[in-house]
Amino acid sequence: MRAIVTTPPERNSVQLMEVHKPEPKENEAVLKILKVGIDATDREINDGYSGVPPEGSPYLIIGHEAVGIVDEIGEKVKNVSVGDFVVPTVRRPCVQNCLNCRKGETDMCTTGDYLEHGILKLHGFASDYAVTGAGYLIKVPEEVKDEAVFLEPLSITEKGITQLLKIQERVVWKPEDVLVIGAGPLGLLATMVLRLKGFNVLNVSRNRVESTKAQIVRDVGGEYLDERENPLSTLGKKFDIIVEASGAASAALECCELLKSNGALCFLGLYREIQECDDFGKIFTNMVMGNKVSFGSVSSNKKHFEMGLKDLLEIKKKYPQVIGKLVSRELTPEKSSLAFKSDFEEIKTIINFQK
Ligand code: BGC
Ligand code: ZN
Repeated sequence: MRAIVTTPPERNSVQLMEVHKPEPKENEAVLKILKVGIDATDREINDGYSGVPPEGSPYLIIGHEAVGIVDEIGEKVKNVSVGDFVVPTVRRPCVQNCLNCRKGETDMCTTGDYLEHGILKLHGFASDYAVTGAGYLIKVPEEVKDEAVFLEPLSITEKGITQLLKIQERVVWKPEDVLVIGAGPLGLLATMVLRLKGFNVLNVSRNRVESTKAQIVRDVGGEYLDERENPLSTLGKKFDIIVEASGAASAALECCELLKSNGALCFLGLYREIQECDDFGKIFTNMVMGNKVSFGSVSSNKKHFEMGLKDLLEIKKKYPQVIGKLVSRELTPEKSSLAFKSDFEEIKTIINFQK
């Protein structure tokens, strides 16, 4: 079968390879893969910054955003049947099986020794067939089999937003105004989820107001500004909730100053670049004097995928065209190396294994 593999930490190693079709152990399912989404993590792996192959394997099959059909199941599998449309979660429990991993909250693993399909010590889903524990599959209705490839990134935003609302149970609060920074898939999906919850959402990113990204924000009733014409420091407004999904350290730093009193800020990016700041003291003092909270959020568990599925169905009903607009291009596995050269204003590249 075909598989998209990398050999980290080698740079630019992505290639299509012929490998053996996997077989299920007693609690596993083999999926026939329909679609796989490529994201910044996949590009980081191909750039040599992260990614670890499974023990004993010279290569790592990438891909952690996927939808497939159950093709074969182990003898103990009860929760899915052959022919079901499913989306797999990404993270698996740490070897120590810590308190959180034991509860199914692998996204909150305390040891750091967790495994991740397509990223860390487990093969991913970018292959004709892929295998995983059947207990980690989310069944999806056939009507969303095309959009379900967005369930993984959607689950990341669901986790961040759920955590934020849970944290805010600390205070009497009536949030209205939301700022989302970044209009990649995470920023756009966060914008959609927060609009479904009825918030006024302003999305700010470095894209033209005529871009598809800006259009998507407006399609779901949000407001959009190009950060290059409207720097964050000039917005002249503060927010109850901020979701930082641009991954830019400068934006992450600046938006701390844009929270209202009692507000909460969720960081979803990986802030790799060095950022100078002349006045951390002022930023921290403002956080203290306004009882503000900021926190980071990574990965997701089954609960967040299930919330994502509910919202995906609702988004599809309310804004029928909008999920489709997130797909900038669909490539065959043979052309998949193109996905690693990110285009200007690209949103999501999908690899279609049925083509
Ligand atoms: C994935 C997460 C994962 C993170 C870090 C993200 O792209 O969506 O599931 O935890 O990368 O590896
Ligand atoms: Zn753990």
